[in-house]
Amino acid sequence: MTRVFSGIKPTGNVHLGNLLGALVHWVDDQHRADSIYCVVDLHALTVPQDPAELRETTVRLAQLLLAVGLDPEVCTLFVQSHVSAHSELAWLMECTAAFGELSRMTQFKDKSAKSGFVSGGLFTYPALMAADILLYDATHVPVGDDQRQHVELTRDLAERFNARYGATFVIPEATYPRAGARVMDLQDPTSKMSKSEDGAPGTILVLDDPKAIEKKIKRAVTDTEVEVRYDVAAKPGVSNLLSILGAATGRTPDEAAVGYTQYGPLKADTAAAVIELLAPVQARFAELAADPGETQRLLAVGAAKARELADATLARARDQIGLLPPG
Ligand code: TYM
Repeated sequence: MTRVFSGIKPTGNVHLGNLLGALVHWVDDQHRADSIYCVVDLHALTVPQDPAELRETTVRLAQLLLAVGLDPEVCTLFVQSHVSAHSELAWLMECTAAFGELSRMTQFKDKSAKSGFVSGGLFTYPALMAADILLYDATHVPVGDDQRQHVELTRDLAERFNARYGATFVIPEATYPRAGARVMDLQDPTSKMSKSEDGAPGTILVLDDPKAIEKKIKRAVTDTEVEVRYDVAAKPGVSNLLSILGAATGRTPDEAAVGYTQYGPLKADTAAAVIELLAPVQARFAELAADPGETQRLLAVGAAKARELADATLARARDQIGLLPPG
């Protein structure tokens, strides 16, 4: 059986990297496999949050996921903290992970170097992510390229737990899109587009209006040549535009490059493709945003479905590791 699981953090605004690297594939996968998607609010707590803002961002993100095309009748959509098994299994995963392997996570190294306050949660973050995935016996985890190391660690932890305590977890596999797995910043095409760059000219937000999108793509950094070809090392800016155009139109970056001899038309067509991709999402989001109560009702239904699966896996893991059954 194929079971898909993936998650997204409610921090900042959703950008084109999230959409092309992950969300459009979640929408496709829901029709092909039993699919479970999670707004990972506990992961947002690794850095201090404003409580009112976190609540608002969590509901908005769920609405955006519905607007992108997740259908709660087809997939399971829920909020991580509504299913307490995530926190409980995370502890078992922290005790399965070695200090050294958590220290080697590049996202921890990057983020801890940039922030003044480094929480313990930022360090153990990948153990919580492993718990998310393993609780649902996920076989496939659709993510962008930046999550590669975390999914590898999840596999290692699952294998180690199974070897120590007997078969407990399914070993998951990450899946990456053909184009869009690593959408780069338009102003600095050697860094990935990221939420921390909100409002920045290099990040296209899913809710940006057409004018803002045109302006950002028009000003995207390219290079001093004029040749349009996909070559990430030599032409990171142009390659990023081709990757965006390809992902937005269902082609590989090389296929998207065919027929272009100048940067102007490439930029114009990329902007048009992105605007066309986002227009229906923005329209549906506006409708959903008008009724947050309905979103919360859908999330409660999702949490009930998720809880049933997660509790069964947690009970299995507790038993295997030697914890006494409660009551
Ligand atoms: P997050 O919230 O940073 O990002 C959500 C998804 O978007 C992808 N992504 C990108 N893809 C392409 N180009 C980019 N510039 C780009 N930026 C982000 C991410 O790869 C991700 O798929 N740790 C995860 C959330 C998480 C999770 C999980 C994911 C928690 N538990 C379990 C899968 C399974 C994260 O911070 O994603």
